[in-house]
Amino acid sequence: MRPLEIESLGFSYEDGTVALENVSLSLERGEKVAIVGPNGAGKSTLLHLIAGFRMPFTGKVLIDSQTLTESSADDLRKMVGLLFQDPDDQIFMPTVEEDVAFGPRNLRLDDIDGRVSKGLRSAGVETLAKRKPHKLSYGMKKRVAIAGIMAMDPNILLLDEPTSGLDPRARSGLIKLLKGMDRSMLIATHDLEAAAEIVDRAVVLNVGILMEGTMRDLVMSRDVLERAGLEIPPVSRLFSVLGSMGYSVDALPVSMDQAVAQLSKVIDREGRHIHAHVHEHDHKSVESSQ
Ligand SMILES: Nc1ncnc2c1ncn2[C@@H]1O[C@H](COP(=O)(O)OP(=O)(O)OP(=O)(O)O)[C@@H](O)[C@H]1O
Ligand SMILES: [Mg+2]
Repeated sequence: MRPLEIESLGFSYEDGTVALENVSLSLERGEKVAIVGPNGAGKSTLLHLIAGFRMPFTGKVLIDSQTLTESSADDLRKMVGLLFQDPDDQIFMPTVEEDVAFGPRNLRLDDIDGRVSKGLRSAGVETLAKRKPHKLSYGMKKRVAIAGIMAMDPNILLLDEPTSGLDPRARSGLIKLLKGMDRSMLIATHDLEAAAEIVDRAVVLNVGILMEGTMRDLVMSRDVLERAGLEIPPVSRLFSVLGSMGYSVDALPVSMDQAVAQLSKVIDREGRHIHAHVHEHDHKSVESSQ
């Protein structure tokens, strides 16, 4: 049973704005998928629809094989955790710890204290437990909102721009956390490098789906990048330039980790090559001196 299936989904806002058209995608259990696309592509709308926050839509959304309807939305919402793009839409309790406890309490889950400390720890905000959320900085609020989602430990994670506004250390901590989680997730993001670290697959959205594939496929697809207004990360650009200079580059890395892995293979290969040459040379010079 797939945790999420979406068939020919379409949605327009009351003012007539068409936000999504004929979107079909599914998530396997434990699969992580990035939703990328320009501003206004419908990424947030898509996540809100799946979380049961917007109706009516055309097409079908199935969560654990159950059809999402107005009457099933309350029940199905328990299975999905949505991290809002703007943390101010998410946090509203007087203290951080109460805010993180709100979700699990609302779902009547057990071990609230344990869940709260786990959530706070996973987002690295234990020290903020007693603070007033609305007095925190944007990045700190974002981390508190992440703590709240983690405390609920939902089956499907829907993360809307999870890395935006985070400082570098918090960003890499979050990447590590999400990468290590054995959970199905959809991540709407402009952060292609983070996505490359975390996800198995990417979906390029611009009202409709433009492409589906790996992040490496995506950075090699100039036409899609152009149509989706996406820029490839500097590390991919570097390899692309090396490729055009004649160096053999079979696939473009998207993240620094991928680049290091790719480069160390080349260095390894070339290193051995150089080593072999030197060896051969030594051998010859020994022979000629005899
Ligand atoms: N409440 C609303 N009423 C009318 N139109 C809306 C509303 N919210 C979003 N839209 C429109 O729906 C479209 C999709 O917006 P959405 O916020 O889903 O895009 P996005 O891909 O998340 O963009 P971003 O990268 O800026 O977060 C846009 O054209 C937007 O203007
Ligand atoms: Mg958005």
